[in-house]
Amino acid sequence: MIIIALGAPGAGKGTQAKVISENHGIPHISTGDIFRANIKNQTELGMKAKAYMDQGLLVPDELVVDLLVDRIKQADCVKGYLLDGFPRTIPQAEALDRALNNRGDKVEYAINIDVPDEFIVTRMGGRRACVTCGATYHVEFSPTKVEGICDKCQGSLIVRDDDKPETVMKRLEIYHEQTQPLIDYYAAQGALYTVDGTKDIADVTAQIEAVLSK
Ligand code: AP5
Ligand code: MG
Repeated sequence: MIIIALGAPGAGKGTQAKVISENHGIPHISTGDIFRANIKNQTELGMKAKAYMDQGLLVPDELVVDLLVDRIKQADCVKGYLLDGFPRTIPQAEALDRALNNRGDKVEYAINIDVPDEFIVTRMGGRRACVTCGATYHVEFSPTKVEGICDKCQGSLIVRDDDKPETVMKRLEIYHEQTQPLIDYYAAQGALYTVDGTKDIADVTAQIEAVLSK
């Protein structure tokens, strides 16, 4: 089962990907999380990626594609995987298709989590992420049991560097320019399924599970 999660920044890709990948026993692969782990460990890739991420820009395709194609060759991916935040440009989608075609695979479900721009800024302003395990919460819509402390690992919660309102606006602009065209790309392949991402978290999960059971 090869699933990709499409949607604007803050649409809920990460939130849904965690649950869906657990439900189906497949890895959740987030290029944003991979970059954030590299930034935390101060790797060369992390330093390069940070310069783009902090401005709300996409990391160049050449820094993303090989990394992702290597990741999906790993043993835990044999039953499938859920990609969160990749592909994000048409060249990335074409590179993924080439890698999959070589093995007789294809993207089966491109799930577009549809959330209008006006919801996004509120969502990002309230997002909190665990510094230790990366779990994501929202102060209003998905709060932790104890304020500021991760429910899963007791790590501290922070506001992501790229969640400042002006960076969010830039990320949205880049999304519309470079990522939204993927909706037509996957529709043309017959793999596109759109869910209403403005509903509450459990409702969105139910909509996605309904798609996956088709
Ligand atoms: P990435 O980490 O992928 O960021 P993004 O796409 O901007 O998406 P987010 O993680 O911000 O949002 P999300 O959709 O996961 O929402 P979440 O579930 O957290 O990428 C970061 C950066 O890395 C990019 O800007 C780029 O620079 C670089 N990058 C990554 N991949 C790349 C690639 N392939 N190519 C080039 N560059 C790349 O939810 C948001 C908030 O809302 C949370 O607080 C959550 O609790 C809450 N929430 C979620 N669902 C709901 C709901 N239904 N109702 C109410 N609240 C909800
Ligand atoms: Mg995310």
